[in-house]
Amino acid sequence: MIEFRPLVSSDIGEAVKLWEACELTRPWNDPVADAERALGGPCSTIIGAFAAGHLIGTAMTGWDGHRGWIYYLGVDKDFRRWGIGRKLILHCEEWLGQFGAPKIQLMVRSENDAAARFYEAIGYEEDSFRLFYRRLGRSRSQSIRPAVIRGTKSGKS
Ligand SMILES: CC(C)(COP(=O)(O)OP(=O)(O)OC[C@H]1O[C@@H](n2cnc3c(N)ncnc32)[C@H](O)[C@@H]1OP(=O)(O)O)[C@@H](O)C(=O)NCCC(=O)NCCS
Repeated sequence: MIEFRPLVSSDIGEAVKLWEACELTRPWNDPVADAERALGGPCSTIIGAFAAGHLIGTAMTGWDGHRGWIYYLGVDKDFRRWGIGRKLILHCEEWLGQFGAPKIQLMVRSENDAAARFYEAIGYEEDSFRLFYRRLGRSRSQSIRPAVIRGTKSGKS
């Protein structure tokens, strides 16, 4: 039987191993820190699927005040096509219900056709946004100066 529950901090090691096996990790992300942050606040969690006590699937979810989001959806290769991915997403949707989230969304890498087919199969629609990003905390030259924050040219309030 597969059991579903939110992860606790002692599950993080197993979760990171699963994410590595599912090729969900990226060199520029720290998966342990990602998991700790997701479990450390009231607006995010990681739902786990367990078979005989072993973690075999995860989905990280969070509420940003406007939308619900999903990250780190992965199912152990030996347990795929058992409906576990679908159930993980349903658990995320239920968890987000406490915030009244009107919409849940996620990003799929353009080369990940299998994940796109999975989301289509479980009733998710594809949108047509372009995703822009900027990494923060690297360049002081582009930070907002105090004068701009206070809304005056002189910087005096
Ligand atoms: C995507 C993933 C989470 C799906 O998990 P899963 O437990 O196998 O999915 P389910 O069994 O719930 O599948 C539900 C339906 O989705 C569709 N589906 C699932 N995997 C699919 C695939 N590889 N290709 C096409 N359709 C797929 C099927 O219609 C399936 O129903 P069926 O088995 O009755 O045909 C899993 O393949 C995985 O971990 N992939 C690697 C990590 C990844 O890419 N994550 C997504 C990042 S955005």
